[in-house]
Amino acid sequence: MDDQTLNESTPNEPTRPLCDYEGSGYRQEFWEGQGRDYEDLTERVAMRRLLPPRGRRAVHLGAGFGRMTNELSGYDQVIVLDYSRTMLREAQQFLDASERYIFVAADVYYLPLADGSCDTAVMERVIHHLADVPAALRQIRAVLAPGSPFVLEYASKRNLKAILRYWLKRQSWDPFDHAPVEFVKLNFDFHPAYMAQCLSEAGFLTERRLAVSYFRLGLLKRVVPLAWLVALDRLLQPTGEIAPFSPSVFTLNFATGDMPPHALDGPLFKCLRCGELLHHENDMVVCDACGARWAIRDGIYDFKDELGD
Ligand SMILES: C[S@@+](CC[C@H](N)C(=O)[O-])C[C@H]1O[C@@H](n2cnc3c(N)ncnc32)[C@H](O)[C@@H]1O
Ligand SMILES: [Zn+2]
Repeated sequence: MDDQTLNESTPNEPTRPLCDYEGSGYRQEFWEGQGRDYEDLTERVAMRRLLPPRGRRAVHLGAGFGRMTNELSGYDQVIVLDYSRTMLREAQQFLDASERYIFVAADVYYLPLADGSCDTAVMERVIHHLADVPAALRQIRAVLAPGSPFVLEYASKRNLKAILRYWLKRQSWDPFDHAPVEFVKLNFDFHPAYMAQCLSEAGFLTERRLAVSYFRLGLLKRVVPLAWLVALDRLLQPTGEIAPFSPSVFTLNFATGDMPPHALDGPLFKCLRCGELLHHENDMVVCDACGARWAIRDGIYDFKDELGD
């Protein structure tokens, strides 16, 4: 295994801080009836523009309660992965009952998915919680078969509101500076140039970039009909190919290079300790090489905690 795919420490001793959604009411408190239909719809427009409609095995990273997972309806198998068991249990309720879905509790920094085992990855509204973007992107690159698409959404620091606030001296951080800004603990905005560099260094070729959600302003959303705003956003999204100044940016990236084994039909899970492939044993997945085991509980593969002896 090359060093790109090795875990950098064991998941039971996390070295990177995580934004914990365990017990969170994200669905009710952020989305349902919270006036964010515009954001949801414009994100779907972008996703449909970028995501290949069909495929074999897609992984939805940081899927939350599965808000956008139904955009992957053309895939034979969809891995719904999140660090929060609460979110995954909600996703099980939210999504239609289908054997296509595989629910996995795991950390993006320590993906338990075999190298090259997926032919598509999607991650929206997650990377803004990650302090170590390069490490997460390396993990995602490793689970993708070469040539696979990765649709990534990130929050952009170089957006019109931040620029205006900076010029009016109502914001201290510079939206043109390339370094990520942590405006609230474990909430980051990224410069498009920084994200482009991280994607390239992790082994992705960025092919498209869309500027999304320009009209994310309470007053506008109240006075302009939703359909108009979404139509306008749809028109503006392609301007992101040249220069995005929107708060949200969607990118379409392709995994470059060769990385054997090409394992789309092979076992899905790998050991977080030693990297060997796992096999099923009763309600567990087990590593023959090192003896590590993880539970499958209530339909969720739980890689948050390794089982003891
Ligand atoms: C803002 S929510 C977005 C959920 C979903 N993508 C959506 O757009 O509705 C962020 C999600 O990322 C998950 N998350 C944060 N850090 C993570 C990590 N290191 N590994 C896996 N999931 C993570 C959280 O548990 C949460 O469900
Ligand atoms: Zn092992």
